[in-house]
Amino acid sequence: GKVAVMFGGASAEREVSLMSGQAVLDALRRQGVDAHAFDPAEKPLSALQDEGFDRVFIALHGRGGEDGTVQGALELMKLPYTGSGVMASSIGMDKWRTKLVWQAVGIPTPEYEVLTADSDFAEVEARLGLPLMVKPAHEGSSIGIVKVSEPGQLAAAWHDAASLDRLVIAERFIAGREYTAPVLDDQALPLIRIAAPEGNYDYQHKYFTDDTQYFCPCGLPENLEAQMRDTVLRAFKVLGAEGWGRIDIMLDDAGRFYLLEINTSPGMTSHSLVPMAARVAGIEFDALCLRILDGAHV
Ligand code: DAL
Ligand code: MG
Repeated sequence: GKVAVMFGGASAEREVSLMSGQAVLDALRRQGVDAHAFDPAEKPLSALQDEGFDRVFIALHGRGGEDGTVQGALELMKLPYTGSGVMASSIGMDKWRTKLVWQAVGIPTPEYEVLTADSDFAEVEARLGLPLMVKPAHEGSSIGIVKVSEPGQLAAAWHDAASLDRLVIAERFIAGREYTAPVLDDQALPLIRIAAPEGNYDYQHKYFTDDTQYFCPCGLPENLEAQMRDTVLRAFKVLGAEGWGRIDIMLDDAGRFYLLEINTSPGMTSHSLVPMAARVAGIEFDALCLRILDGAHV
């Protein structure tokens, strides 16, 4: 039948989604799938039914696509779709609620504070230490994330982040190494170590520069990687996530690791990480897209 690849949308990650979606669309077509682009910023979702689609590959990122809203609409239309359902998508889009669930089952995540206009910013700086990270709770691709390094700058950082999101968190900065853990068919793929210039894996370094180094296999001792992959799978399942996704991790210099967040609709661009780990596991990009599509359900 006819497959809609949903991409674009109206979130701040639209540009990233256009790259992910085009890559997925091309891959599915190469595999003989009758796949078509569908941009929710251009058409109402009801057009999916009018145009006779019978499955949806979700390649949307951010709010209004990765956050359970589109998933809920597709449930009501009884159209099978890829990836996580309504609840996991919606909790996973929220960095605060994700942490609450993980903390409840003892999964390590950096200490944090929810910031509001009433926060005692000096007290938060003192408690979490500097530098610290300020994050809009419902963004992706590092959009709106600010590293606060100097005392007294937290209030201004909160103010900027609050213009992007109704919920903002401050998070302890974990000095060490950055990893990511792709999940496919409810299995953890090999971890990737990300070495961005000056440890700054921001929007530019994610998609538009070639100066970030990636290591997969990641070079960790086997038992530590196994333990991290185990924790990742537990973290994926406790959120109720399904099909595929990616969990970002920091490892400090003492060998302790902390889960930062989950991405329930991860990037599928030429620079993206799920495709990189899948390739190391012997799954080329086209086969990866087909596998994800095969997992579509309501
Ligand atoms: N939010 C981007 C798309 C990612 O995590 O890959
Ligand atoms: Mg993210």
